[in-house]
Amino acid sequence: MIFDTHAHYNDAQFDEDRDALLSSMNENGVGLIMNACSSLHEMPLILQLCEKYPFMYGAVGIHPEEVEGAEQGYLDRIREYAKHPKIKAVGEIGLDYHWTVQTKAEQHRILGEQVDLARELKLPVIIHDREAHGDCLRILKEHKAYECGGVFHCYSGSREMVREVTEELNMYIAFGGSLTFKNAKKPREAAAAVPLDRLLIETDCPYMAPVPYRGKRNSSLYLHEVVRLLAELRGLSPEETEKITEENGRKLFGI
Ligand code: NI
Repeated sequence: MIFDTHAHYNDAQFDEDRDALLSSMNENGVGLIMNACSSLHEMPLILQLCEKYPFMYGAVGIHPEEVEGAEQGYLDRIREYAKHPKIKAVGEIGLDYHWTVQTKAEQHRILGEQVDLARELKLPVIIHDREAHGDCLRILKEHKAYECGGVFHCYSGSREMVREVTEELNMYIAFGGSLTFKNAKKPREAAAAVPLDRLLIETDCPYMAPVPYRGKRNSSLYLHEVVRLLAELRGLSPEETEKITEENGRKLFGI
């Protein structure tokens, strides 16, 4: 079965058919979903979905594009939400210089604080790193993120950076729809280089739909396309690829 290790089912794009869609997951081979959090106001719905669907797990954290919403006391609020038994990670957290380079200093501080909290809570981190590889690796090392581990989601680094992420930072690497894009030479090289016991798959839905659905609303149902491509890259069957990535995901999140 498929473990989608990064989704956003609280997104408004799912408001019309969220329940019908989620109810169809198991019959379509999707067995586990990790629902990531960008901003704390999403938490009531994330928890509600975790409670409604046995296969759904959640994370709590502040995305780098949302750091302006990190009000005083936000760490205590994360601490409270993390007590829920189905909250299995702190994320998504990280750095994004593509959209919000003007908040760099805030992003650095809030990433560091959330990594420290993840270590305290003994939860892995879900890392968003967009056009910020150098600073992201540096801050994660400074804040000893190798102690809690985690995942670089929607990986966009080089194949050389794979070793730093998996060995020095003790983290997993996840690939999604962007792996299937025509110009995705660099992600495919990286995906071929990740140790098999560190490999994960994800959608980041509703974004990043794989080819041939590119541009449409993404969902975990389209992850079969990513599995097929990854299997080809690694010389595995799709079934083996699903099994390996599912086991890795369970290990990372303690499920
Ligand atoms: Ni995301």
